[in-house]
Amino acid sequence: MSEEEIKELPGVGPATAEKLMDSGYKDLLSIAVESPRVLSDVADLGDSTAGKVIQAAKDAADIGGFETGDQLLEKRKNVGMLTTSAESVDDLLGGGIETGSITEFFGEFGSGKTQVAHQLLVNATLPEEEGGLDGEAMIIDTENSFRPERITEIAEGRDLDAESILEDIHVARAFNTHHQMLLAEKALDIGDEHPIKLLVVDSLTSHFRAEYVGRGSLAERQQTLNKHLHELLKFAERNNAAIVVTNQVTANPDQFFGDPTKPIGGHILGHTATFRIYLRKSKGDKRIARLVDSPNMPEGEAVFKVEACGVTE
Ligand code: GTP
Ligand code: MG
Repeated sequence: MSEEEIKELPGVGPATAEKLMDSGYKDLLSIAVESPRVLSDVADLGDSTAGKVIQAAKDAADIGGFETGDQLLEKRKNVGMLTTSAESVDDLLGGGIETGSITEFFGEFGSGKTQVAHQLLVNATLPEEEGGLDGEAMIIDTENSFRPERITEIAEGRDLDAESILEDIHVARAFNTHHQMLLAEKALDIGDEHPIKLLVVDSLTSHFRAEYVGRGSLAERQQTLNKHLHELLKFAERNNAAIVVTNQVTANPDQFFGDPTKPIGGHILGHTATFRIYLRKSKGDKRIARLVDSPNMPEGEAVFKVEACGVTE
């Protein structure tokens, strides 16, 4: 449907339409909000043609408008809540991890980000009465830290059917930032065919950090990360899915002055992630989660554990 609409835009022939589709412009709105410079680049158009195409897309697209508070409140009823398996952390978040938003877990190595991610992948497949999202889950793994064996261990520790849970978890490894971004686009296609209710990116920032080194590349890194985050948000909206990303903290004095509690990713990530949770180690298997940014919950802390059966209260 939207493919047809793109082809019908004045100034867009079949070849241009294909280039646009291949570059991830799959509906009119995505073209309507693009800048002429970027569009002329990706579709090999002159600047003025690109401008005309964008204007035509603006005229034809449903840009949306203002809604009243009560309409929004009604819509909020569709927001799903995914349990973390620790009641204290769920309470901290106002009931759990929300669908339709990006939730970020950041912290030092070993603070439990990947363990929480494994737990959430399991939980997303559970029925809603059990705190799940009654769907399938997906992970873009950038550090080769996803382990199906760990999913099995967590599932069996909770008397769940590990095999059927594994069948509902889609895993892809990303080898670099470009690959990671392509996988986020591919996720949209898979989301059209499977009821994916959770998309995890673990870690969101490690490739970006490795590939864009030094202050000189900061602007470009932030732009690329911004594009990636918006692709993830698109996924969240289209599928009413929860997006969970993990992020390290800076130790390098060159990056945001090395405050050990500062997540990398800067302002872009700060503004795009709706919920930000700082994880740190405590004694033994105890971990502390601190909510540092949320639109409707006060800041606060909760204690949880990482055990053989996963996250516990
Ligand atoms: P980085 O990815 O290195 O930044 O760290 P992370 O925050 O992802 O840490 P991760 O979630 O991998 O946590 C590692 C810690 O979780 C380990 O130190 C263990 O304490 C615990 N852990 C990891 N795997 C297991 C496991 O299979 N069973 C249990 N019980 N604990 C585990
Ligand atoms: Mg990890």
